[in-house]
Amino acid sequence: MIRAENLSKIYGNNELRVTALDNVSISINDGDFIAIVGSSGAGKSTLLYQLSFLDEPSSGELFFLNEQTSHLNQTQKARLRLNELGYVFQDYALLPELSSIDNVALPMLMQGMKTSLALYKSKQALQRVGLAEKTANFPSQLSGGQQQRVAIARAIAHDPHVIFADEPTANLDSASGRLVMDAFVELNKEGQTIVMVTHEEEYANYAKRIVTMKDGRIVLDSMR
Ligand SMILES: Nc1ncnc2c1ncn2[C@@H]1O[C@H](COP(=O)(O)OP(=O)(O)OP(=O)(O)O)[C@@H](O)[C@H]1O
Ligand SMILES: [Mg+2]
Repeated sequence: MIRAENLSKIYGNNELRVTALDNVSISINDGDFIAIVGSSGAGKSTLLYQLSFLDEPSSGELFFLNEQTSHLNQTQKARLRLNELGYVFQDYALLPELSSIDNVALPMLMQGMKTSLALYKSKQALQRVGLAEKTANFPSQLSGGQQQRVAIARAIAHDPHVIFADEPTANLDSASGRLVMDAFVELNKEGQTIVMVTHEEEYANYAKRIVTMKDGRIVLDSMR
């Protein structure tokens, strides 16, 4: 689905030069549930950002559905991110003045989808993460774990090929974190491909495939 060949990412220059990603090759396959693990500074977020087209690698090639992507311009990449991929961040990034369903619908409305269809898809997505009863709640009326599940609903509502999550449980207590992971497991069972960064082993164990990074390289890639 997404294939990376010899990706490198170098920040800064001269004595401030940091090789955050060092010749990494990896394939994300249909149906994968991947946890990217490793210590702080290992390059986990950097890898996720390159694989999800949020950033530009310094060198290497990324293939999306077997097509080379280096020739895509910024507009085409933005379209790919909006239409084909989904993102979950650790701070949820919900708009406080919008209800759950409106938060989920907003990106699709901005893409020009008809309101009735966007609301229908949003309701379905909220159902899939166990929040059917909370469609009218505002973020301030939800727990952290529920807010993160709204963010997951927003990431999946447009049926993306892959959803990417960087430390989605970082701001949650362990009970809420487990509920978020349960939602990922359910979505993955339904066929959703997921790539998640975490530094907590407990959460990595929900994934089916664990990619371990060290010093900008993948040192282990194993199925559980
Ligand atoms: N924008 C940047 N400018 C300069 N160096 C950066 C930048 N982003 C990351 N780095 C460096 O690249 C390396 C990898 O960082 P990255 O954020 O990918 O690590 P990580 O594995 O996600 O760590 P953490 O678990 O702390 O989030 C680190 O040495 C970091 O300091
Ligand atoms: Mg990180």
